[in-house]
Amino acid sequence: MRDLWGRTATSAPLVIVQEASLPTDRDRNGRFVALTGGDAARPLGRVLLVGAGPGDPELLTLKAVRALAGADVVVHDRLIPQAVLDHARPGARLIYVGKRKSHHSVPQDGINDLLVALAREGLTVVRLKAGDPFVFGRGGEELTACRDAGVPCEVIPGVSAGLAAAASAGAPVTHRGVAQAVTFVTGHAAGAGGEPDLDWASLARPNQTVVVYMGLSTAPVIAARLAEAGRAGSTPALLVENASRPEERRVLTSLAGLADAAASLDGPVVLIIGEVAAMADTGRLADERLLERATA
Ligand SMILES: C[S@@+](CC[C@H](N)C(=O)[O-])C[C@H]1O[C@@H](n2cnc3c(N)ncnc32)[C@H](O)[C@@H]1O
Repeated sequence: MRDLWGRTATSAPLVIVQEASLPTDRDRNGRFVALTGGDAARPLGRVLLVGAGPGDPELLTLKAVRALAGADVVVHDRLIPQAVLDHARPGARLIYVGKRKSHHSVPQDGINDLLVALAREGLTVVRLKAGDPFVFGRGGEELTACRDAGVPCEVIPGVSAGLAAAASAGAPVTHRGVAQAVTFVTGHAAGAGGEPDLDWASLARPNQTVVVYMGLSTAPVIAARLAEAGRAGSTPALLVENASRPEERRVLTSLAGLADAAASLDGPVVLIIGEVAAMADTGRLADERLLERATA
């Protein structure tokens, strides 16, 4: 087994990476490389947990662009567009560790080990995550793994999908006199009986916005639980699929219509439930509005 530099690995590998798992145009030759946990003589590298935003490459921060340009290795998620990966310098290694629902190309513990092992090889590692690393992104686990291993780790925030969806649709998540609070929740069915484990009574109160991530398949149960807890069936609900991407789609409905609307979409989707959703512009996409403004 060879290490990252093509040398024969002398100690037992901590992590083995197959470069052929990279679904990008920078795929290498598919060889396996071993990360052995570093060489004491080599200075420790570092890990940057970087938010890649919701998909529109223009929503990347300048800091993220700079981090990508300086990385030796980019360990990235599934929903990262090529135009974002293209900010990595030529010669940087790209390692795909994407997750689809119930299919993880690399389990989370393996990703944590990989980040630590790469940094111990003396490398500058960008862990590029969709949206914001700390919003349903498991960035906290990766940060903790680095801290526990004594690896320097910095976090660069990104535009989270819920905020991008709201901005794109022109539906503010808080709005004076309409919504005094916003709660970001996961719709992932972690609870008993395949339900999200949420405080339905508090989420059902009016004049607040509930933004649901990973809630497409559980939309029927989310709508039912909110209605049972007292949120009116007429409460506006907006579904935004592929927010900020050219293929973005928006559906404006009500809590009562949420399940049917969800069935017409494929994902990734955020659900924005609350009075503010009524302000959504479902007709035009954000870029068209920009174009109008630019030519006005
Ligand atoms: C594991 S969470 C990651 C969230 C990410 N850390 C963030 O801050 O946006 C994945 C979920 O984010 C949402 N999502 C991510 N990108 C999206 C997009 N462009 N449009 C709509 N929803 C998106 C979907 O609900 C998807 O199931």
